[in-house]
Amino acid sequence: MTGHLHGVGLGPGDPELITLKAARLIEAADVVVFHAARHGRSIARSIAAAHLRDGQIEEPLIYPVTTEDTGDYRAVMEGFYDRCAERLAAHLDAGRDVVVLAEGDPFFYGSYMHLHKRLAARYPTEVVPGVTSVSGASAELGRPLVERDEVLTVLPGTLAPERLAERLTATDSAAVLKLGRTFGRVRDALEEAGRLDDAWYVERATTAGQRMLPLKDVDPGTVPYFSVAVLPSRVHEQTRRALPEKPREPKGEVVVVGLGPAGREWLTPQAQDALAAADDLIGYGPYLDRVPANARQTRYPSGNTVEADRAEHALALAEQGRRVAVVSSGDPGVFAMAAAVLEAAADERWRDVPVRVLPGLTAAQAVASRVGAPLGHDYCVVSLSDRLKPWKVIAGRLAAAATADLVVAIYNPASRTRTTQVAEARDILLKHRRPGTPVVIGRDVGGPAEDVKVVRLADLDPADVDMRTLLIVGSSQTKAVGGRVFTPRRYPG
Ligand SMILES: C[S@@+](CC[C@H](N)C(=O)[O-])C[C@H]1O[C@@H](n2cnc3c(N)ncnc32)[C@H](O)[C@@H]1O
Repeated sequence: MTGHLHGVGLGPGDPELITLKAARLIEAADVVVFHAARHGRSIARSIAAAHLRDGQIEEPLIYPVTTEDTGDYRAVMEGFYDRCAERLAAHLDAGRDVVVLAEGDPFFYGSYMHLHKRLAARYPTEVVPGVTSVSGASAELGRPLVERDEVLTVLPGTLAPERLAERLTATDSAAVLKLGRTFGRVRDALEEAGRLDDAWYVERATTAGQRMLPLKDVDPGTVPYFSVAVLPSRVHEQTRRALPEKPREPKGEVVVVGLGPAGREWLTPQAQDALAAADDLIGYGPYLDRVPANARQTRYPSGNTVEADRAEHALALAEQGRRVAVVSSGDPGVFAMAAAVLEAAADERWRDVPVRVLPGLTAAQAVASRVGAPLGHDYCVVSLSDRLKPWKVIAGRLAAAATADLVVAIYNPASRTRTTQVAEARDILLKHRRPGTPVVIGRDVGGPAEDVKVVRLADLDPADVDMRTLLIVGSSQTKAVGGRVFTPRRYPG
């Protein structure tokens, strides 16, 4: 079995631009081959250094001549590559896998091609493409190469000056490689083609030694072989200039976003967009935890009872130009942050801060849907929390709702510290409702601890109710049939 030959592109110099495939093959190779100058240093080897390992055979191919000055240059090089190819053939015949390191792309003016010509027909051969110096240079310049139907011409600086000028006149974009001693001629050709002012010079692109500047400012005496001239896209430059100089700073705002009662499937696309666009997120910690992480954003989690502080904080950030999302579970307008933010925003200080409210699916709808349609007719929502309103108001409203024969959706029925309200509410309602009135107890609907039960009003046990629970108490018309609960559309006349 003979070994495999791989011509592996390493990219323009930054070792992070080596492809995963190139890295894998270099690490697995028995023999690593690279070109080197007579002093022995090799750019290709230094790019690949992190992937070389102990025990690999290294085959430096030392160039016999470095410039094309030698009269019989071509014959010298042909002989050199013949000898190199035979050195590699000996490894391949012995079954060793050989990787030839090639700076940039092996088939883009790469010396690897001399070996490929001599060996590819004799041994299983694979070429791994690499990022070219042209791509590296344009990326570093931050200037696109070709857009729409523009034509890119790639030229070696070694071309005769009149041929260079002719090609540069005919093209839109261009890259001229192999600069070094040819630089003066390339500069003249660019001038003759009327393109000198558009041209950029990039030396050792993507490496620590990179230098880039307008080509007309380059001192020809300082130009090494590893440099490239670039004429970037003209279309891109024109359209870029036509755009407004500075994009208008987006003004800060507060968006109060409803997250729905639980998981992401109940989050509206509109709410998702607003969350994604925000710079800052504000809300009760467990609700913020439901928003996917984004390192660009700053999160300000807070406790459950500091709505006013949260609102002020959001408005202050928005005034500084930040896009602030204040999150609420369910719908932000239902016993949640929307009213708190708008109340704070009514202060003259925040006159110029825009506030938007984006709806969410409220808990009453989520719980109702689990059993059918208990909210199918007139209903009201009441919060049982006496933290922000006196209990006598709550008791009065429950009695009024019961008298009006409304279905009642009860939010905030209990908490760790509020344990008496459920029994009191049940007793108030029982004064006006049959003991058999269906009551839906929906706990953590959509969440991991979801539990939904239907009981008779007289049997409503406060022990079944906590702060993650919502109650729906039926009207005189609400029916519980085979586990389903609904309130008919028609009310008896
Ligand atoms: C402060 S209120 C917020 C209501 C929220 N803005 C909404 O529209 O659903 C909190 C109460 O909503 C109810 N709740 C919220 N999410 C729930 C869920 N997934 N299952 C059952 N009840 C829920 C509970 O009654 C809880 O005590």
